[in-house]
Amino acid sequence: MAHFTKATSVKDWLNQRLAIDTIEKVMGSEYWIPKNINFLWAMGMVLVITFVLLLVSGIFLLMYYQPNIETAFYSVNFTIMRDVDFGWLWRHVHGVAASVVFLIIYIHMFTGIYYGSYKKGREMIWISGMLLFVAFSAEAFSGYMLPWGQMSYWAGMVITNLFSGGSLHADGLVEWIRGDYVPAQAFLTRFFMLHVLLIPLAILGLIALHFGSLRIPHVNNQDGEEIDFEKESKRYLNGDKAGSKVMRFANDFMSKDMMVVGVYLIFFFYLVFYNYGFAMDPVNFDPADGLKTPAHIYPEWYFLWSYEILRPFSVDIGLIAFGFAQVIFVLLPFLDRSPNTVAANRRGLFRIWFWMMLINMIILTAMGKLPPSGIYSTIGFFAAILFIAQWIALPFITMFEKKV
Ligand code: HEM
Repeated sequence: MAHFTKATSVKDWLNQRLAIDTIEKVMGSEYWIPKNINFLWAMGMVLVITFVLLLVSGIFLLMYYQPNIETAFYSVNFTIMRDVDFGWLWRHVHGVAASVVFLIIYIHMFTGIYYGSYKKGREMIWISGMLLFVAFSAEAFSGYMLPWGQMSYWAGMVITNLFSGGSLHADGLVEWIRGDYVPAQAFLTRFFMLHVLLIPLAILGLIALHFGSLRIPHVNNQDGEEIDFEKESKRYLNGDKAGSKVMRFANDFMSKDMMVVGVYLIFFFYLVFYNYGFAMDPVNFDPADGLKTPAHIYPEWYFLWSYEILRPFSVDIGLIAFGFAQVIFVLLPFLDRSPNTVAANRRGLFRIWFWMMLINMIILTAMGKLPPSGIYSTIGFFAAILFIAQWIALPFITMFEKKV
């Protein structure tokens, strides 16, 4: 049994029981951050804030939403949007955050790729990050089903159909996932459960894992410098704050993070109040109708690049290409064979690889939104081939990279 003494303050009382001083040190005042990092390193914190906005707005929406195929559409579009005071505000916050979170995730991911932050001891940061990407994708998809509009229904139909595996005709698997022959009540109920319980729980666990995996290797820096964190933190604690290459997370580095978060929130609430339309598909303002297929079914913008990798091929090849696109990013730390953990602009062929990948994914996104015919289909086809070819080429072009 530990030795307890009469507490001198509430903090001391808690400290004796919960070691809050140690937690504060580990998470804040002795969590060392390199000084040479730019605003792109604040994206992790921006993601945390966006996730909190999603959670809080989701809880308010949950008070009035009804997971029933007869009433779901009306509970969202009439009860929440018109009857409940400020219901529209919570819905706009939720919808805009669900879309913007992907923009920030992509910026965060490409920052990691650009600076090689997945290499040499940081593999678990990358893998847990990719698991978060998958979990957020599942969360966005399941949430999209809930208003039970035309796009909810038909996107649900198309995406669950993918599990039939083309020529494998695994229709039993599709029915098992839907709980019925077509998306209906069983489908809505289980996606509701996934959206409000199981996936958010998984996301919380994965965020903890992601943070934990940052602890030992520490965050990377923009100069690709291998910092001796032990030596530099001692230097800081001994009073040479200016000479040390690191600083405390709390409250020093955090103030820089908060500055970026502040600018982000101005942009975010501008979208919520004045430009929320981009996050809501007009077709989804019609109630679900299993007898009326929309002329053009497409996913939300953040899934378009992988959708476009599926589309230009025959069913079976398309599914294989799509599966490839889903898993290949996870393998990045093992496909990149170069010894360098530095910015892409100092890395020979990888620099070209990086910019080609980024531009190609933007092209795939644009083509995914357009109808799959004529020139768009040809561009989509070549962009999809290039995407796959670039990943196959990666180990070869990085293997011969010289140490910088
Ligand atoms: C939405 C969920 C996510 C949250 C809340 C989150 C949070 C964070 C935070 C706070 C950091 C440290 C500060 C920073 O570098 O920004 C970080 C670092 C990192 N994250 Fe994430 N992240 C998320 C998703 C992802 C994804 C999808 C990836 C891509 C696979 C990823 C990869 C990384 C990497 C490689 C680092 C290390 C950066 C470095 O060492 O310089 N994260 N993340």
